[in-house]
Amino acid sequence: MSSMIISGGRRLSGSVCVHGAKNAVLPILAATLLTKNISVIKNCPNLSDVRHTIEILEFLGAKVSRKGDTLTIDTQNADGTHIPDSLMLKMRSSVIFMGAILARNGCAKISAPGGCELGPRPIDLHIKALKELGASIKEKHGYIMCSAKKLTGNTIYLKFPSVGATENVMLAASLASGETIISNAAKEPEICDLAEFLNAMGANVSGAGSSEIRIIGKNELSGSTHSVLPDRIVAATYLCCAASTGSEILVNGIIPEQISSAVSILRDMGCDIKAEKNSVYISAPKVLIAPEEIKTMPYPGFPTDVQSQFLSVLAKAKGTSIITENIFESRFRHTEELNKMGANITLAGRSAIVKGVPALWGAKVSAHDLRGAASLIIAALSAEGETEIKNIDYLDRGYEDFMENLNNLGACIKRIY
Ligand code: UD1
Repeated sequence: MSSMIISGGRRLSGSVCVHGAKNAVLPILAATLLTKNISVIKNCPNLSDVRHTIEILEFLGAKVSRKGDTLTIDTQNADGTHIPDSLMLKMRSSVIFMGAILARNGCAKISAPGGCELGPRPIDLHIKALKELGASIKEKHGYIMCSAKKLTGNTIYLKFPSVGATENVMLAASLASGETIISNAAKEPEICDLAEFLNAMGANVSGAGSSEIRIIGKNELSGSTHSVLPDRIVAATYLCCAASTGSEILVNGIIPEQISSAVSILRDMGCDIKAEKNSVYISAPKVLIAPEEIKTMPYPGFPTDVQSQFLSVLAKAKGTSIITENIFESRFRHTEELNKMGANITLAGRSAIVKGVPALWGAKVSAHDLRGAASLIIAALSAEGETEIKNIDYLDRGYEDFMENLNNLGACIKRIY
């Protein structure tokens, strides 16, 4: 694992462009298995999670080539049904392949998925939903084995609006016979992007973005071209970088309404923010004000994926703030590291209580997960002196050229491999 050295205390200025969304591209890549034709995916970021997903596709028999940010995927011979442990354990989202492989081949064998350690991350909702579509699923020796001669549409109620389970059902149901209704579906923008791609392939998906999604299954789907939506989490992370350093930047190439919950909190904290059609300008004051309690919620609520980054911004806000994490357990692992930098954060169950301090200082810290890595960078940018962040490779799962882009905005960061 490599490290990052950050000399803090510099103001940022200028503009940055946001790449395609990791959480949209992963299920879209899985969806390419639903056709035997060629799919072209544009605005595809070069992230380690995307590279792992491509490895899985290639292992299954697909031919994948990249030119710039465009992937061309030929799935004519992608008839593999088994994803080995070595590939599954690299990231949790590989569970998304279960529905796609099952729909294409009538069987699938995967092991329990890996990914960032954010507490227990069960896949019971995925399994229950696929069973309701007619799959027989057995769990044996750490493997999940699914089979179904033909999946059949059904009404599926998700007891929690799980993003991954909603996507798995959308993939499987697109080739099932009859109509599937997902009730209490996740409403995240990435669900809408997947629906758009599926429909471009000839699927019949309606209601994405609402809590009820209808899918009328088709016998076959064709290849298509799709441009991935911008990464709202990366966009919000850049805003946090500006907010924590009292800076003025323009974040380009985004859909501002998709980050409105984060923008509204930054405004409450004293930032001047102007949203245009595809960009957000932020000008942050020297001293931020602690906002009202922040609670992570399913979309359109405040995203769990920017909770860590906000914790770093709150560390120096005047007053006491509370962040409550309602989606994942163990998503405060970087708190101890922030406290090494002078923050005053205590944990109480699912909440972090942050007493704002006038300054943070550089320290030796370690990242434990993707968004925690981003959070430590935000803290280091605003700290006095030098910070060394170990295990920074987690960052590469979700941010392309993050260091280069921040250096272009005036930061002073180097990476040691
Ligand atoms: C996706 C995102 C992740 C984001 C999360 C919540 C991708 C690749 N990842 O993850 O970045 O943080 O949405 O917005 O898109 N749960 C169960 N049983 C299940 C499935 C989920 O209990 O079968 C629980 C999870 O433990 C968690 C909650 O539901 O507490 C939310 O999980 P889910 O929405 O499924 O997140 P992911 O799809 O894994």
